[in-house]
Amino acid sequence: MDRFRIEGPCRLRGSVTAAGAKNAALPALAACLLTEAPVELTRVPRVRDIETMRQLLHHLGVVSESTDEGVRLQCTGLPTTDDAPYQLVKKMRASALVLGPLVARLGHARVSLPGGCAIGVRPIDQHLAGLEALGAEVALEHGYVTATARRLVGTTFRFSNPTVGGTENLMMAACLAHGTTVLENCAREPEIVDLARLLTEMGAQLRGAGSERIEIQGVDTLGSARHPIVGDRIEAGTYLIGAAITLGDVTVRHAKAADLAPLLEKLADCGCHVETDADGLRVRAEQSLVPCDVATAPHPGFPTDLQAQLMALMTQAVGTASIEETVFENRFQHVPELHRMGADIRVNGSHATIHGPSRLSGANVMATDLRASASLVLAALAAEGTTVVDRIYHLDRGYESMELKLQSLGARVERIRSSPAA
Ligand code: UD1
Repeated sequence: MDRFRIEGPCRLRGSVTAAGAKNAALPALAACLLTEAPVELTRVPRVRDIETMRQLLHHLGVVSESTDEGVRLQCTGLPTTDDAPYQLVKKMRASALVLGPLVARLGHARVSLPGGCAIGVRPIDQHLAGLEALGAEVALEHGYVTATARRLVGTTFRFSNPTVGGTENLMMAACLAHGTTVLENCAREPEIVDLARLLTEMGAQLRGAGSERIEIQGVDTLGSARHPIVGDRIEAGTYLIGAAITLGDVTVRHAKAADLAPLLEKLADCGCHVETDADGLRVRAEQSLVPCDVATAPHPGFPTDLQAQLMALMTQAVGTASIEETVFENRFQHVPELHRMGADIRVNGSHATIHGPSRLSGANVMATDLRASASLVLAALAAEGTTVVDRIYHLDRGYESMELKLQSLGARVERIRSSPAA
């Protein structure tokens, strides 16, 4: 297992380009199951979750090849199997995104239940209730979901809570359903809007993505598309927080202010200078940081995927900050590791209180999930001395070449590769 060795403290300065969003690329890859025509995706991030999804699609009969700019995929004829096995699904929950496309295109799907994950239970009951509402017969047996429908039929379905993956799964399924589907209480994340753009280019009749109500007029077939994946707002936000925590000056290109508004507002409240232009965002911090209070929420609220990174930042603010995690029930696993670096954080249920500023010092710490790992890297950039972050395969799931990007901003970060035998 690779590790990062980080020498702190440093000031990040310079500019980096955000990769395409992993969370937009994953449903876009799954959407290629909806057509026999070729789909070309550009700006696909080179991260491990994308490789996992490509393996799953390969298993389902999709031919994919890497191009200079991204990935070209084609599911000629029909998917060759309806089966998404546990070995692939357990690696990544987003594998469940093939469920809707498989039922819509093939009439049946057998997808392993994803099981628990580091940040909480994360059920897919809403995905299944939605498919049932569209007329699929859904059963659970031997750890697998089976869903069958000769042809899905449009209906009105209301999500009990806004779910990103659930909204994406049902959007894709409804594109090939008979008649009109109305989805209510949808998630409104920018990645959903990006998926809607791709589906529309493929010929889907869909409107309202980005609002809580999406209406889809089913069509018989979908065609080819060439689609650039939207920039990764979570990756961009991580580097902008990096500017703040190191009192540095970082510009992130290929990042949109509108997608990151809740973070940019908080950074401004903390005393950072925030500048935006058509293609990029710049954050500068020159003086001590002011603490702020944050509660995570579905978009357009503060993203849960930036909560851990913001907590690292609050350890450097002068005074007391509070963070409430409302989306996932077990997303404070970075806290014990931040304690080991000298942070003063108290957790009470879903609330964390952070007293700062703490003089962080380098330590050996363990990454537990993707965003928790990013918070440890950020803390290490502000800490005195050497931090070794173990298990960075979590980071590699979602951050493209993080060490290279940080090096280009002046950080002293190196990847220590584990020998195959270790
Ligand atoms: C996606 C993102 C993830 C992000 C999360 C919330 C991808 C690949 N992953 O995950 O990075 O942290 O959105 O912004 O896009 N829930 C149910 N029933 C369901 C589905 C979800 O109760 O059927 C609950 C979940 O347990 C969670 C909440 O709804 O508490 C939000 O989850 P959801 O939006 O579905 O997250 P994902 O799509 O899995």
